Amino acid sequence: MPALVLLGAQWGDEGKGKATDLLGGSVDYVVRYQGGNNAGHTVVVGDQKYALHLLPSGILSPGCTPVIGNGVVVDPSVLLSELSGLNERGVDTSKLLISGNAHIITPFNVTVDKVTERFLGKRKIGTTGRGIGPTYADKINRVGIRVQDLYDESILTQKVEAALDVKNQMLTKLYNRRAIAVEQVVEELLGYADKLAPYVSDTVLVLNQALEQDKVVLFEGGQGTLLDIDHGTYPFVTSSNPTAGGACTGAGVGPTKISRVIGILKAYTTRVGAGPFPTELFDEDGEALRRIGGERGVTTGRDRRCGWFDAVIARYATRVNGLTDFFLTKLDVLTGWEQIPVCVAYEIDGKRVEELPYSQTDFHHAKPVYEMLPGWSEDISKAKSFSDLPKNAQSYVKALEEMSGAPISAIGVGPGRDETIEINSFL
Ligand code: GDP
Ligand code: IMO
Ligand code: MG
Repeated sequence: MPALVLLGAQWGDEGKGKATDLLGGSVDYVVRYQGGNNAGHTVVVGDQKYALHLLPSGILSPGCTPVIGNGVVVDPSVLLSELSGLNERGVDTSKLLISGNAHIITPFNVTVDKVTERFLGKRKIGTTGRGIGPTYADKINRVGIRVQDLYDESILTQKVEAALDVKNQMLTKLYNRRAIAVEQVVEELLGYADKLAPYVSDTVLVLNQALEQDKVVLFEGGQGTLLDIDHGTYPFVTSSNPTAGGACTGAGVGPTKISRVIGILKAYTTRVGAGPFPTELFDEDGEALRRIGGERGVTTGRDRRCGWFDAVIARYATRVNGLTDFFLTKLDVLTGWEQIPVCVAYEIDGKRVEELPYSQTDFHHAKPVYEMLPGWSEDISKAKSFSDLPKNAQSYVKALEEMSGAPISAIGVGPGRDETIEINSFL
């Protein structure tokens, strides 16, 4: 039973933070396995609202140990300010564990992210500007700096030199920027060493030992399936693997340990940044979804692009992640529409296509084929069980479940912890 993965089934912002927090009280560890502070996970507890970027949402559950796995990229200044922000609000963060193998987002990675986007011009990805892509690029290029390097000044200096060697040429000669001094970077990074020391550990060992003792471990994805570097809408993706396999590599846990993979699925679709989005709306319905759903980025403050539910994407997420369950979020946002269009297939160059095309060109040409489902007008935010939902809301959920290929085991009807209908228990 013990290991569960909870991940985004669309383009991020599906409500992973809320879902993770909900389970946080019943699990022993919550682990972030990829991404960094490009994530923005909102958790609402009573009248308190928390926006978490790097810390796993389990940090708000006192019995739970939050873990930042080896697959995460860590900006130390963001991490420390997130920790102190929580401490000021009375949250105990002392149990946090950070993998010594996690890579560090250095200030020069943030600079490279920003200048690269500027130079891409209208071909830009619309990144969060947090240095995510360049840090993963350094990791793959084997010139990355890891958390453990903060504890060996000589190695750290050599690695910063290696990383800056080419980058300074690029910054000065290509981008017309000033070179970054090795000493300045080393000094800044060393300044974080003592502050992070209490948290740094061999998280792979800790998590595997915990699993051997039948402890419950929850892996919390950042971003979403369609933002995955391998399985997403490349190149309009992030630079890591939010899909289920990423939990294994990003935490050092074998696939045989994972018994449940839960896809968080919004009852409609949103996307931030550039890239194709077949069901995107440019009319008052899109505006209404944005307004009612509060669809504004937690990390960058950008308005999210909004559109109707896309079952082709949901089916794809079921397939590439081996989903066992869905957690459907934000059903309440759809209250008030007489009819709700749901995309059941695409039309691509005159042909009906039921599954997500692997070809980027085809996906750019995909036009949604809609089926109209009857809406409801009753307030559903107080619903506690499936039978409390109006008949048409029940049918909407059932239709989505049938089209998406995995059971919907929970339904979100509001942002709060208790605004959830549990159908099948996750634990
Ligand atoms: P994440 O990145 O996947 O954690 O999602 P975000 O926190 O970026 O965006 C989801 C937003 O929807 C947050 O503001 C949540 O508080 C909110 N939310 C989550 N579940 C529900 C729900 O069922 N209903 C409503 N109305 N809001 C929800
Ligand atoms: P959570 O965890 C939505 C998007 C960015 C951009 C692309 C690449 O809150 O769901 P990056 O900075 O990662 O190199 O940007 O990915 N993106 C997200 N969109 N939710 C997120 O995280 C995202 N993290 C990155 O907008 O299009
Ligand atoms: Mg988010």
